[in-house]
Amino acid sequence: MAGPRESIHGQWSSRWVFILAATGSAIGLGNIWRFPYITGENGGGAFVLIYLLCVAAVGIPIMMAETLIGRRGRRSPINSMRSLAEEEGLSSNWRYLGWLGVAAGFLILSFYSVVAGWSVAYIFYVGGGVFADATVEASGAQFEALTGSAWRLLGWHSLFMVMTAFVVARGVQGGLEKAAKWLMPALFVLLIVIVAYAIATGDIGGAISYLFEPDFSEVTGASVMAALGQAFFSLSLGMGAIMIYGSYLPADSSIPRTIGAVAVCDTFVAMLAGLAIFPLVFGFGLEPGSGPGLVFVTLTIAFGHMPAGQLFGALFFVLLTVAAWTSAISLLEPVVAWLVESFRWSRRRASAFAGFGAWLLGVGSLLSFNHWSDVELMGRNFFSWCEFLSTTAMLPAGGLLIAIFAGWRMARGSTVDELGIGDGILYSTWRLLVQVVAPIGVIAIFLNALGVFG
Ligand code: PHE
Repeated sequence: MAGPRESIHGQWSSRWVFILAATGSAIGLGNIWRFPYITGENGGGAFVLIYLLCVAAVGIPIMMAETLIGRRGRRSPINSMRSLAEEEGLSSNWRYLGWLGVAAGFLILSFYSVVAGWSVAYIFYVGGGVFADATVEASGAQFEALTGSAWRLLGWHSLFMVMTAFVVARGVQGGLEKAAKWLMPALFVLLIVIVAYAIATGDIGGAISYLFEPDFSEVTGASVMAALGQAFFSLSLGMGAIMIYGSYLPADSSIPRTIGAVAVCDTFVAMLAGLAIFPLVFGFGLEPGSGPGLVFVTLTIAFGHMPAGQLFGALFFVLLTVAAWTSAISLLEPVVAWLVESFRWSRRRASAFAGFGAWLLGVGSLLSFNHWSDVELMGRNFFSWCEFLSTTAMLPAGGLLIAIFAGWRMARGSTVDELGIGDGILYSTWRLLVQVVAPIGVIAIFLNALGVFG
């Protein structure tokens, strides 16, 4: 049996910091930008219900599995997988699961930073009064003026990537932990202020019935797949972010309780984001299913017509930027930890190198909105390929393999030992979910996407 390992990168000062940091990773563009528009595209309440089911039955058990692997391995995902496989007497090929995760994180970070860059730009646009009394056309034109200019996008994308690499370069306690301690309370306060504002000025009744009254007529196989992909994306699963955060978790903290808190917060914030956005959208008779432009094109029109909309609108985009920032940090961390472990690089060097790589890949994404907008492969441009591949394919595949590793390949004793809830009913429930429910769920949804069920 291996003795308790320590991470060379340091560890969180308490389990509360882990909760803050992991919640910071989970809450991001996925909750505030993506969840509302995907819900809008898939018809509202019924989609929300399927989403909740995916979080509870697949997301939470896999999140616990990822955390326990990370804490037991105490290294970057690639090296944790390698050393756990060795310790459990398994094939060293399991390290490729770590590679898959690092690749997915890299891919996500590249386009994530582009979209986060829009959010930074919008703080200034909305705060500067660009949307005062804006029409639907004017708002659309504003969005196109931004996305149509490769240089503007490049500027905002670069700024956001530098912000991210800056925090990661400062290390676990000096960078990640500090960011979580300062930014997460700010995020919660901002969110509450904006929801209160939306309730006071918008159509809250419309928003509630839209989000919570299921209408299954609009649900298709594709929406179930989208719900699962969104659950993985939103909980930061399947790519090693939660694994590496778990590797900095103090040994005596209970994983199930800690993860429960993170998942509940993440889901709660997705709902709150819906309750901040849809009352305003409905209050102005705007379209909820308008896709990725929902918060940038549609929501800004509402802010443009409301009392103090300039101030609250700017605050909304500060919120979105902060949320994206704490997530981007967790996307970069696994690669940086791996570079530090493998090449003994300094954190600064590793962050600069990895940040630059993701930035370069992101240039392909930002060009998809202008010069390369017609360059398509099977109906998708570069940006949507990156998004599709990472969210709908790599994260669920990574999650599936994590479930198989923790549920079937690791010795029962190792997982009992690491989870820290004894070997009773709670443990058996987790094991059943990880061994059977989560894999079947992911595989069924993959098969459905391939058209196997007609
Ligand atoms: N969970 C983040 C969000 O909702 C995105 C993310 C995915 C972060 C995977 C880390 C890993 O925006």
